[in-house]
Amino acid sequence: MSQIINEKMAKEIDKWVAKFPSDKKKSAVLMALRIVQDEYKWLKKEHVQAVADYLDVPNTEVGEVLTFYSLYQQKPVGNHTVKVCTSLSCCLNGAYSVLGYVENELGIKCGQTTKDGQITLQEAECIAACADAPAMIIDDKDFYRRVTPEKVKEIISNIKDGDRP
Ligand code: FES
Repeated sequence: MSQIINEKMAKEIDKWVAKFPSDKKKSAVLMALRIVQDEYKWLKKEHVQAVADYLDVPNTEVGEVLTFYSLYQQKPVGNHTVKVCTSLSCCLNGAYSVLGYVENELGIKCGQTTKDGQITLQEAECIAACADAPAMIIDDKDFYRRVTPEKVKEIISNIKDGDRP
């Protein structure tokens, strides 16, 4: 146990370790990083080291996982993340217009966080909603498909009001 990985997080990580048939600890790196990120919002070097120590996996290997997947936050983010998919299907269906609408609604540019520290706007790689492009995802769990300017207004307003469906 470390100061970073508390008992609750350790239990969750252990559950994942137990699920894998072989190479258990290495296989659990993805989920361990996710669990730590859920707690701290973004992953600092010491968080990566804590995962490496807990799972007894080399720090460099944990770092490789961290930098490979765009789901991991390597810089501070707001309490909520808004990610607009700009991969091919979404791009062909107006993703950059959607991104522009979100920028207007939030008053920030992509990659920035609102002044109150509440919302960070980012581009995302394909979020597996290609058939309903353009798509966006909030807090890496709430999907919005066939996004229109009207929907953007409603989605952002709901996040601000803390009232998301
Ligand atoms: S390309 Fe946007 S969800 Fe797949």
